[in-house]
Amino acid sequence: MGKLLLRALKREAVARPPMWLMRQAGRYLPEYLETRKQAGDFLNLCYTPALATEVTLQPIRRFGFDAAILFSDILVLPHALGMKVWFEAGEGPKLGALDKPAAVTMLEKADIHSHLAPVYETLDRLKTALPAETTLIGFCGAPWTVATYMLEGGGSKDFKTAKTWLYADPKGFDALLDLLVQKSADYLDAQIRAGAEVVQIFDSWAGALSPFGFERAVLEPLLALCRKIKAKHPDAPIILFPRGVHPHQLEHLVEKGTGLFDGLGLDTTQDMAWANRILQPQIAIQGNLDPIALYAPIDKVEKKVRHLLDTCGHEPGYIFNLGHGITPQTPIANVERLAETVRSFKAGAY
Ligand code: CP3
Repeated sequence: MGKLLLRALKREAVARPPMWLMRQAGRYLPEYLETRKQAGDFLNLCYTPALATEVTLQPIRRFGFDAAILFSDILVLPHALGMKVWFEAGEGPKLGALDKPAAVTMLEKADIHSHLAPVYETLDRLKTALPAETTLIGFCGAPWTVATYMLEGGGSKDFKTAKTWLYADPKGFDALLDLLVQKSADYLDAQIRAGAEVVQIFDSWAGALSPFGFERAVLEPLLALCRKIKAKHPDAPIILFPRGVHPHQLEHLVEKGTGLFDGLGLDTTQDMAWANRILQPQIAIQGNLDPIALYAPIDKVEKKVRHLLDTCGHEPGYIFNLGHGITPQTPIANVERLAETVRSFKAGAY
């Protein structure tokens, strides 16, 4: 027995796959908007344990998902490192420019844990507030993805500043990646000690690089981070979510990462029949319903969910999720139907 998500991550046989959704706490829920209003500023919501606990629990109450993901953001880490971070309504995140490489030396000195203490307290509260069968997931951004926000000062279309530095001076760029590997490892270590049972590393911009860049700025730092976490917490499962990378790069990552991570989150573009055949015998896979498919008529939503379950859910090592975060206008009834469909699925004979 034991919690469904933990069992699926060990690729044990389960009666049905566990489910949770990326960004499951968010603006499609009226109760989130209410708490968000109470908090005022988005970062204030992240740093107020009572409110962050409340929004983490909201989707669990409504849909009975098998896992709760800590409510926070990947950008609290650069914030803890001393960078300016703010969220402008309708514009997404903004960061004060990083003046490389002198800034890297300055950031190294930051003590992140006093800044991040409210995040750890949120995890501590969630540990007791969650239903016994629900798994608590902690997370951080991957070194490359966080580096892009730090160097571009926010989101970017072409990652010109980050890529130029990486291609012109890979050794220099390593200093920033190494710093982020170390600080992210410290951060996830503290999250696990505070109660996170699983951690997910979000590499949203993993697919933006050349093969050289992928190897150097995505794969190597991700595996270095996993190594550090596994050294301290060999039993804490790790899920990687490298968004937008080619299937052969996923295979390569799984091969090089044997024993270093436990689950691979697949984005919307990946072929799950292929992933079921090639990846799932080696590692748990998670995904990948297109979040925009949730805007289709409800019977189509159900059909797509069933199709995914039929493709991957009969063998061990499958976690139902979206291929990226749920979006603000998603009809709640469709999410309810998704949850009912997964819950009533019966995995066939293994
Ligand atoms: O999944 C969850 O429910 C947990 C919370 C969570 C948030 N952000 C809350 C959030 C998680 C895991 C993240 C991760 C995150 N944040 C990523 C990686 C995953 C991905 O989506 O690719 C990235 C790139 C960020 C950075 C970030 N934060 C962006 C680009 C934005 C703006 C986009 C948007 O949706 O507005 C945010 C803000 C943000 N983070 C919101 C939420 C609920 C919306 C802010 C609001 O309520 O006004």
